[in-house]
Amino acid sequence: MKTPNFKQELVAVFGKPVAENPTQPMMEAAFRSLGLDWRYLTIEVDPAGLADAVRGARAMGFAGFNCTIPHKIAVIPYLDGLGKSAELMGAVNCVVSREGKLIGENTDGKGFLEALRTRVDPAGKRVVLLGAGGAARAIGVEVGLAGAGRVTLVNRDEARGRELAALLASRVGIAVDFVPWNRTFRLPEATEILVNATSVGLFPDTEARLDIDFESLKPGMIVADVIPNPPKTHLLRIAEKKGCEVIDGLEMLVGQGVIGIKYWTGADADPAVMRNALLGIFGR
Ligand SMILES: NC(=O)c1ccc[n+]([C@@H]2O[C@H](COP(=O)([O-])OP(=O)(O)OC[C@H]3O[C@@H](n4cnc5c(N)ncnc54)[C@H](OP(=O)(O)O)[C@@H]3O)[C@@H](O)[C@H]2O)c1
Repeated sequence: MKTPNFKQELVAVFGKPVAENPTQPMMEAAFRSLGLDWRYLTIEVDPAGLADAVRGARAMGFAGFNCTIPHKIAVIPYLDGLGKSAELMGAVNCVVSREGKLIGENTDGKGFLEALRTRVDPAGKRVVLLGAGGAARAIGVEVGLAGAGRVTLVNRDEARGRELAALLASRVGIAVDFVPWNRTFRLPEATEILVNATSVGLFPDTEARLDIDFESLKPGMIVADVIPNPPKTHLLRIAEKKGCEVIDGLEMLVGQGVIGIKYWTGADADPAVMRNALLGIFGR
């Protein structure tokens, strides 16, 4: 007879606010389908309590934890080391316990890349990246490390945009140009991949529109949106009508979850199971 084991392995997300974060149902659906007796806890952690929360995770033997707003940068001093992408981005969204050490990784951009690679290899491709915040940083670094041919970065706040462009050029070593977003942006003819990494379109402002010339979207272009809720953004609806191939924000969310599960458990989770769990929440 098998020895009973009521001690589940623990992982979590630390954030504030965090109550609306849908990662737990997605991850626990994956654990169930893998036959893993693991729990993913959604824990509200105040910035003043972050050091204690990390100490608690160590003391309770967590296999790791995700970090979301406002902890992605603040968590770094409490960790024992950083993976390459996290070090380049200066932000951590996934902490992994490896041989007793807490290592900070960044899986946001890797999750995006996972989704992108199901359509195209970004190596040598011309990419337009809208935005220069955390999501754009993560995506820019990963498409750069994956060998993108050129990245055109477009952002309203010029200082923020130039800073990310400089990081991509100097630390990732890719060809990058920056366009201040102060008028309707027209995609360069040669664009092969367009990524919206701004928060435009996020619930509840779901009818917000990007200030781009939608006529410059061409059939066959890959158009990706980071917005997970709602998954069918205005941009993706137009892009589909124009004959572009689209990637929604749920794919990125699932992609980073698949990588987190691989880091924590060593197992390969089924992205379809995870996407279905999210579609049950966000609607189809
Ligand atoms: N699917 C996923 O797995 C996933 C993962 C991470 C993030 N996300 C999503 O990504 C989005 C961005 O997150 P973040 O962490 O990068 O946020 P952030 O650091 O606050 O950056 C927001 C970005 O959006 C731009 N922006 C906001 N309103 C705009 C407008 N009206 N017009 C043009 N640009 C505008 C900002 O431009 P300025 O610099 O000019 O202000 C900035 O570049 C969020 O909606 C989040 O839900 C999705």
